[in-house]
Amino acid sequence: MHYDFNTARQGPGTGCEKYDKRQQIFGTDAVIPLWVADMDFAAPDYIRQALLERVALRAYGYAECMPAWREAVAHWLRSQHRWAIEEDWLLPTAGVVPSLALSIQLLSQPGEGVIIQPPVYFPFFGLVRENQRKLLLNPLREVDGRYQMDLEQLEAQAPRARLLILCNPHNPGGRAWSHQELTELAAICARHDITVLSDEIHMDLTYPGIQHIPFAQAAGACRHLTLSSSGKTFNTAGIGGGYAIIHDPALRQRLQRVQNTFHLNGETLFSLAATEAAYRHGHDWPGELMAHIAQNRDRVYAACQGSPIHPMAPEASYLLWLDCRPMGMNDEQLQRFFVERAGLGLSAGIIFGAEGSGYMRINLATTPAIVDKAMTQLAQALSDL
Ligand SMILES: Cc1ncc(COP(=O)(O)O)c(C=O)c1O
Repeated sequence: MHYDFNTARQGPGTGCEKYDKRQQIFGTDAVIPLWVADMDFAAPDYIRQALLERVALRAYGYAECMPAWREAVAHWLRSQHRWAIEEDWLLPTAGVVPSLALSIQLLSQPGEGVIIQPPVYFPFFGLVRENQRKLLLNPLREVDGRYQMDLEQLEAQAPRARLLILCNPHNPGGRAWSHQELTELAAICARHDITVLSDEIHMDLTYPGIQHIPFAQAAGACRHLTLSSSGKTFNTAGIGGGYAIIHDPALRQRLQRVQNTFHLNGETLFSLAATEAAYRHGHDWPGELMAHIAQNRDRVYAACQGSPIHPMAPEASYLLWLDCRPMGMNDEQLQRFFVERAGLGLSAGIIFGAEGSGYMRINLATTPAIVDKAMTQLAQALSDL
């Protein structure tokens, strides 16, 4: 391994949310922060170099997305995900969540139904509600300790929906949806004229041996668009930016127009540089990163062995979903246990929807030393119960 996953770069006073918002989120700074989905490590050096070169120019005017950026993104999708796209299918965006908001505005009317599959990345709830759309829930089913889609229930509610927001891979459940699951979902959505907005921000973060399947490869006749970015993979979320991949030229032009309407025109000078450098030089990063994350996952597995906390085996993402229901606590007691007794700042499962009640989400993208310290504190707190 030539990347350093053993040194934490984020820390108190560095202006990062994970550390510097602890008081606000947990009511104390005295927790190891294992919540918001970014990483404690340094981004790779080729990203730093690209940003430094950009800074050295001392020209920070309006940015133009150059052909080299399109080439780098298309090459990444082809080589990492066996997804051959045309470069002009790419539309730079301000980020995945802003593009979801714009897509909801573009492709549905107030009062129309938008399906999400909880427990799921919590901003999806607000995106639907705050845009005055009707929130339709298609909860995942837990089968043998693993989430599956409830396609029967989806079929039943599909006539009331205009859009479906897909989380592929799934946060917080860690599923990398199979080709068959995606094909079945696409067939239902095509039959009911539902457009799928596929959020693939975790696409590069699959565990060794697991292949991410882009929804576009299973979509068939289903209208869809895909939103992603390099920010989650390479730990540059604070720089912003992302991109849409839209095969249908009319749909692409419409999203471009709505971006113009809100003056949310794509990436910034720095995010374009970061993405291009990441995708040009970072082909070995996801594999090395996820091998490291797998070791951290195993440390948590070992610590939870024989305890009332049962991690759900993930296929993707550096987030681990902990089933704490056997602890017999309600959500408030659970959060208090982790903060006050264990000194750990995790994401409470309940924020991902009612289906997350009794769960906690832990972020594994940190150093082995921090994971070990966290697990020692957890073991102590559990033994004091
Ligand atoms: C599923 C999912 N979508 C989107 C985002 C954030 O995307 P962006 O920062 O590009 O808006 C996250 C961050 O955790 C996420 O987990």
